[in-house]
Amino acid sequence: MDYEKIDWARYQKAYPVNEGLIWLNNCGTTPAGRFATEAVASYLDGYSRNGVFTEVQKFPVVKQNISEILGGLLNCEPSTLALIHNTSEGINFISHGLGLHPGEKILLLENEYPSNVYPYEHWKEKGVELGVVNLADTPEEFLANLKKVITPNVRVIALSAVHWCTGMPLPLTEIGDICRERNIELILDGAQGVGLIDMDLKKIGVSYMAFPAWKWLLGPLGLGVMYVAKEKLEALKVIFKGQSSVVRDEEYLPYKSELKHGTDRFEYSTPSFTDWVYFQATLMMLKEIGFQNVMRRIYELADFLSAGLRDAGFHIHSDKFPGIKTGIVAASKPGTDSAGLVAKLKKNHIISALRLGRIRLAPHIYLSEEQMKKVIAVMRD
Ligand SMILES: Cc1ncc(COP(=O)(O)O)c(C=O)c1O
Repeated sequence: MDYEKIDWARYQKAYPVNEGLIWLNNCGTTPAGRFATEAVASYLDGYSRNGVFTEVQKFPVVKQNISEILGGLLNCEPSTLALIHNTSEGINFISHGLGLHPGEKILLLENEYPSNVYPYEHWKEKGVELGVVNLADTPEEFLANLKKVITPNVRVIALSAVHWCTGMPLPLTEIGDICRERNIELILDGAQGVGLIDMDLKKIGVSYMAFPAWKWLLGPLGLGVMYVAKEKLEALKVIFKGQSSVVRDEEYLPYKSELKHGTDRFEYSTPSFTDWVYFQATLMMLKEIGFQNVMRRIYELADFLSAGLRDAGFHIHSDKFPGIKTGIVAASKPGTDSAGLVAKLKKNHIISALRLGRIRLAPHIYLSEEQMKKVIAVMRD
């Protein structure tokens, strides 16, 4: 779609949340739009009439659609993706499946979201060390911090693609090169990155990744995705073997030992199919607009907001990394109580979040410049 010709008003109208709220927590959770509610209603109508035999949405077709769209977005084969429930689950599958040895080390990110921290804690009692890479204000500083803490026993580096509090995209290409040179597994929490920044998993050299559906991809709560690079699949132990883990899973007996040949061996049993229908609808909408156009629109709204807030005396964290686009505006103002301001915004029907003492605002394509102006006016007062 030609960017200049996109009718953004169509998407603004498709999100009923706009009737009562200005939702600026899209890197937290995203409300449902009509594309999803209509698809789900139509599927549930079919399900109410014919149960699992409904022709409205068919299981293999929906699965194929979702993984093909995501495969296009992330430059990976559809078979390297599995539909799971959330990031924590995916990172647990990955962490428990790794074959690490006592004395080896995993590096984690400072102030990382818990989903990319807690799943590694079990390694401590197995003699594997957990280290921390300090967060930095710029990608260059971050690389310097990372290089400082890489010792010869580091086997895994587990990071977020974009930091959830500051909005800073991590320099993934350079991090991937560092890991490749040292034979270190790169594991990503893609929650804040997928759909917001360009991520070419093959080019970066990501070994494993997990992310939720309900942020930049506008999908349903409780649905997530797991990526395992093709060449890493056999090395990752399957810790939950369930009915769907094996080949020809629709035939229950005799039991089978041969696992499915793709990452979908981790989809261990009956899925929440209604969520798949929801996710398919939001992905189709985003694909129709074009993921590059979606990212551009998010940056445009975030830049608009940043400019207005800067003018109102706020410090914008992303000013520390000029030239690098993000959709997360982390703002603070000396002498202003950020928590109080988040509460005031809420009273004014504006949804933001408080993160590391800053006000976090994350627009998405269904919002408008007019709404951003209102937010700036409330914050300026
Ligand atoms: C960096 C990051 N990872 C993961 C998540 C979500 O974790 P989960 O999918 O386990 O709920 C969030 C949500 O805010 C996040 O910011």
